[in-house]
Amino acid sequence: MNFKKLLASAMTVAMLAGCSSGGGAASGSASAAAGDVKTYNVGVAIYQFNDNFMTLYRNEIEAYFKTLETDTVKYNVQIVDGKNDMAEQSNQVDSFITQGMDVIILNLVQTSSADAIIDKVVGAGIPCVLINREPLGDNGDESYAGILDNPTVCYVGADARQSGTYQGEIVAELPDKGDINGDGKVSYLMIEGDPENPDAQYRTQYSIKALEDAGITVEKIDDQIGNWDQKKGQEICSTALAQYGDAIEVVFCNNDAMALGAYAAITDAGRTVGTDIYLLGVDALDECVEMVNNGQMTGTVLNDAVGQSHKAVDVAVQLLNGEAIENYYWVDYVKVTKK
Ligand code: BGC
Repeated sequence: MNFKKLLASAMTVAMLAGCSSGGGAASGSASAAAGDVKTYNVGVAIYQFNDNFMTLYRNEIEAYFKTLETDTVKYNVQIVDGKNDMAEQSNQVDSFITQGMDVIILNLVQTSSADAIIDKVVGAGIPCVLINREPLGDNGDESYAGILDNPTVCYVGADARQSGTYQGEIVAELPDKGDINGDGKVSYLMIEGDPENPDAQYRTQYSIKALEDAGITVEKIDDQIGNWDQKKGQEICSTALAQYGDAIEVVFCNNDAMALGAYAAITDAGRTVGTDIYLLGVDALDECVEMVNNGQMTGTVLNDAVGQSHKAVDVAVQLLNGEAIENYYWVDYVKVTKK
């Protein structure tokens, strides 16, 4: 048992002692009523409801908690919309603390604010599962002190390096390896998510690295920030196609929402995916998987909202049950190409 786990056990005993003394249904902490039904209060703070992927994710959190309910255990799940505003989310977390949530699942608006938020959650004795936006440690890796030093804080996510690598590999595996015009290099447009987010950074970096690792020469035509947003993806792609035309052979989008926007721009510009341009996304939204299968997208990568949400909920339940947890939990990405 490592230090974190030892501490976890000690804190758990303290937490459980706190819970059992609660009793009052409105007290906000888990309560065992006369009929022995225990209700846990779960706060879920999502960075923004207006996000295709996080909508799937949060709906699945809610649905999965329901499936775990029994005659004696209930979960009162409150999900709030941070509206992509860190100040708003900070207030929501304050409110969770005041309400005495038994556990918080947290999708940060800004990972740079992780310390401040985690400090207050931990200070209030509430365990916390971070999801989707990973605060990195000083070395830019999984050494984040807010997780390593706090026994009841962990991160559940997917390693975005893998998703970027898969995007690049999908292109490298094409018959022309992405070099449509045969000039010996792959000329690409990159449409990035929120640059503060490691998912965006890693996908941008590793998609290109995978091409280079396959011995392919690459040329960056343009690289713009679309903030995960479909409309911005469309604007960026439309402007780039107007400016650079046929020079663009591959459009890499850090997520499917932006790829949907890019697809609209590509069709508007009279270009045809699979014939004179390639288009890649990440997430494997249902409509994008369909587009991959009918050739409107070259490929995408499954960002497993179901797997991640279930893992986040399972870990939250472990914390509620006072079990020791790991620091990091990873759910694999899966390459999606035409069936
Ligand atoms: C997803 C994006 C989403 C972002 C939100 C990423 O992992 O691929 O679609 O917008 O998370 O943080």
